[in-house]
Amino acid sequence: MLHKDSKLNPFIIGKYVSDEYFCDREKETEQVKTQLFNGRNMTLIAARRIGKSGLISHVFAQPDIAKAYYTIQVDLYATNNLTEMVTVLGKEVFSQVQKQSKSWRDKFFDVITSLRVGLKLDPVSGVPTLDIGIGDISSPTMTIDQIFEYLEMADKPCIVAFDEFQQITNYPEKNVEALLRTYIQRCKKTLFIFAGSQKHMMAQMFLSPARPFYQSTSNMGLEPIPRDTYIAFAQAMFKKGAKEIDAEAVGRVYDMYYGITWYMQYMLNEMFNLTPEGGTCRVETIEVAIQNVLSAQQTFYQYVFTNIPPRQKELLFAIAKAGVAQNVTSKEFVQKYRLQSASSIQSALKGLEEKELVIGSLDKTWRIYDTFLEQYIQRYVVK
Ligand SMILES: Nc1ncnc2c1ncn2[C@@H]1O[C@H](COP(=O)(O)OP(=O)(O)OP(=O)(O)O)[C@@H](O)[C@H]1O
Ligand SMILES: [Mg+2]
Repeated sequence: MLHKDSKLNPFIIGKYVSDEYFCDREKETEQVKTQLFNGRNMTLIAARRIGKSGLISHVFAQPDIAKAYYTIQVDLYATNNLTEMVTVLGKEVFSQVQKQSKSWRDKFFDVITSLRVGLKLDPVSGVPTLDIGIGDISSPTMTIDQIFEYLEMADKPCIVAFDEFQQITNYPEKNVEALLRTYIQRCKKTLFIFAGSQKHMMAQMFLSPARPFYQSTSNMGLEPIPRDTYIAFAQAMFKKGAKEIDAEAVGRVYDMYYGITWYMQYMLNEMFNLTPEGGTCRVETIEVAIQNVLSAQQTFYQYVFTNIPPRQKELLFAIAKAGVAQNVTSKEFVQKYRLQSASSIQSALKGLEEKELVIGSLDKTWRIYDTFLEQYIQRYVVK
């Protein structure tokens, strides 16, 4: 992304590539595998950008999992209703099935009759493709029914991972949770992983007795990769590219970003890029890397700033300036950061929290959720 080198940068940002570029998660991988091999559905709830989706991809890429199961990873992040969910699920199942046994592949449109409208044959190769839009699905519940029926018929059990599962609570349909629960209980062979990041929401869905998913899964969290492990990984990756990196440089980046995987990968990617072959990356490179990363994000941040109401923006900047902000609604805070009034802070805070721009702790302190954004505001906006 940031590097122009023709050689692959070993610090992958984005989609999972392979074991080779994946740092640790050995225990967690075993833990997930144990759940699955014992036929248990599971939830994976953890902070944003810590590596949930990556862990799922990594587990699915393990030879013993790939041999025993068909795996389907569905990202619900961009879905807004049940029909969109079904569309994404249908497409993902279809694309997985293309790589699998012919006997099962051939049954796709026989069983999921409601997706036949999307069946197109490639004019050159004659290979079937699936081209559906949300307008093509007249009854999402019927289509889900058929998809699960189809998964149950496969010659191997399937694992479906719903990523960003908390998204279903934003669907306008009222009964989605209960509906899915019913379908999922009906599945005898298919296993499910539910992954998500909005802690409160996922916890409510899976732990509150009144909700349909109560105690139906085994729960797992995810912590940052240990500091020493990340240092060793970074050094090994630099070696691959005939470069070196000081342990201290990795350690400092780790401390700066709380060891959260996405920031680590992003920074190390740029630090690798900035280090010539045969060279050693030292702490001095960190600052240059930060500037490059922030400038790559600038357009996006400007967009964020112009699209939030003035009171929220003002509060966002104040929290960034404070770093860890305490007593945000107090008179002192209002005076110190010259905010308009204490009365509007509560609602501004709520707005920022909903957009996942800030995050609160149990001790009632607040900070900016995205550390790059925090650094950007601190350096270029509030100074
Ligand atoms: N163990 C790992 N080693 C190296 N890179 C990783 C690892 N885990 C995740 N990544 C990378 O870190 C980034 C963030 O990981 P991922 O997308 O899995 O996090 P997430 O928790 O699903 O985030 P989000 O909350 O945004 O969905 C990705 O670019 C991914 O490729
Ligand atoms: Mg994810």
